[in-house]
Amino acid sequence: MTDARHPWWHGAVLYQLYVRSWRDADGDGYGDLRGIITRLDHLSWLGVDGIWLSPTMPSRDEDWGYDVSDYTGVHPELGTLEDLDTLIAEAAKRNLRVLLDLVPNHSSSAHPWFVDASSSRDSEHRDYYVWADPAPGGGPPNNWLDATGQSAWQWDDRTGQYYLHNFLESQPDLNWWLPAVHEEFRRILAFWFDRGVAGFRIDVAHGLYKDAELRDNPPLAEDNPLAGRFGLRPVYNANRPETHAVFRDWREIAGRYVPPRLLLGETWVAEFARLAQFYGDNDELQLAFNFPFVFAGFGAPQLSGVVAQTLASMPAGACPVWMASNHDVGRFPSRWGGDDGRKTRLGLLILATLPGTTVLYYGDEIGMSDVDVPADLQRDRMTRSGHSPRFNRDRARTPMQWDSSRSGGFTADGVTPWLPVGDGARCNVEDQCLDKASVLWLCRSLLALRHAELGGRVARYEQLPAADGQWAYRVGDLTVVASFSDQPAGIAAPIGEVLLGTSAADPPAGDSAVLRPWEGIVARTPAP
Ligand code: NOJ
Repeated sequence: MTDARHPWWHGAVLYQLYVRSWRDADGDGYGDLRGIITRLDHLSWLGVDGIWLSPTMPSRDEDWGYDVSDYTGVHPELGTLEDLDTLIAEAAKRNLRVLLDLVPNHSSSAHPWFVDASSSRDSEHRDYYVWADPAPGGGPPNNWLDATGQSAWQWDDRTGQYYLHNFLESQPDLNWWLPAVHEEFRRILAFWFDRGVAGFRIDVAHGLYKDAELRDNPPLAEDNPLAGRFGLRPVYNANRPETHAVFRDWREIAGRYVPPRLLLGETWVAEFARLAQFYGDNDELQLAFNFPFVFAGFGAPQLSGVVAQTLASMPAGACPVWMASNHDVGRFPSRWGGDDGRKTRLGLLILATLPGTTVLYYGDEIGMSDVDVPADLQRDRMTRSGHSPRFNRDRARTPMQWDSSRSGGFTADGVTPWLPVGDGARCNVEDQCLDKASVLWLCRSLLALRHAELGGRVARYEQLPAADGQWAYRVGDLTVVASFSDQPAGIAAPIGEVLLGTSAADPPAGDSAVLRPWEGIVARTPAP
């Protein structure tokens, strides 16, 4: 359904595809667009509705595409504009929509705007970026730190001012106070929407505007991935209220298309009320990533608590988003489950049955774990910069494990993949396809159930009384009971006909079910 009240993403499943790591068609060790086309059937078989491609635009790859040097091109290593058109057309044949990654908070320092801006103070594009004089006593203009914990200000000798970079030095922040920057992005949005791109995942959607007075960020007692890092709360270098007007503008542009184009924000915020604000009055982003859910512990009170708070804060009609793995935060089978297969299966059940939109990360469907990438093979500069050693993002960016061969079926035999392949013998698509008790088949069954029972709408959710260590909820006409316990335990109340369970063995019956440790079941419970 695609009418305004039932847009296609309600109840849908999106699949984040890290292009460099999914499938290498040209044998250079890097995944590419042609490689994706060869494996689209996997996604339609799985039951996915849309794919979000990690950055595809030309880039110097200081931050693997998140440093864009041309917003209307395709990175030559990944393919051509024509390849992207073909991918969109081939995906459409399989009912799959294609979302791109848009990076509006910063560009690459190699972008012609910045090359010009840093050539002289009078250059045409000077004000596209955030420049400032030294603090009165000398040194950086304020206390803002970048993503590696260094000053977010880089001195530019040539023009005698600092420029701002909230991420790497090679990622100068754009100046959203300048109307011309808005105009540029309107043009960029239309360029891709006109080509049939179904929408954007918007990088650092909580960023964009910076405090006009460049005030110091306040101190933070304790670091936390959501509230702030390096002892500072990001109050003035991000999270500014003016950003919401940008999304209202973009939503209006997205709404000119049929079906409307989708804006999915990387909204890295800790408070549910703030998360809700990104939906505006149904006139900003249609979807906003929920990071408190990602960082919730894998337990009944933690997860149910985040879900309850999320839903209580959402404006009426808004569509929540659930994901547990991505290219920054790592893979959920490792974070939530310590690579215990029962927990991976339970995690998938939860992701597949919550109301709204679910986003899987490539490899989630086979329970891929984080890979321990040795220091000499690491490719992420934010890791390699050495300022945040706990933050190795390569672990979740390793090649898709298609089969048990040395290259994982990701690239041709004899080619060295850009990152090492994980344990393909233990976990790969080919073997799991042949085993109906596998994680892959469970994931496929869950997505089929989701489409049949929860598709096309944001289903009603209600938490139910549950036995200790269990989380029970009703979503649409389904009842889900999930056990977060090492012990078998009975459920609190009968739940009707069990449709599916996460164990490889038969699910328990729904009348007086005893759940095995870390087992979840879904039953159909029609309204009384
Ligand atoms: C968030 C992206 O997901 C991450 O990979 C990137 O490094 C930063 N934004 C900067 O663009």
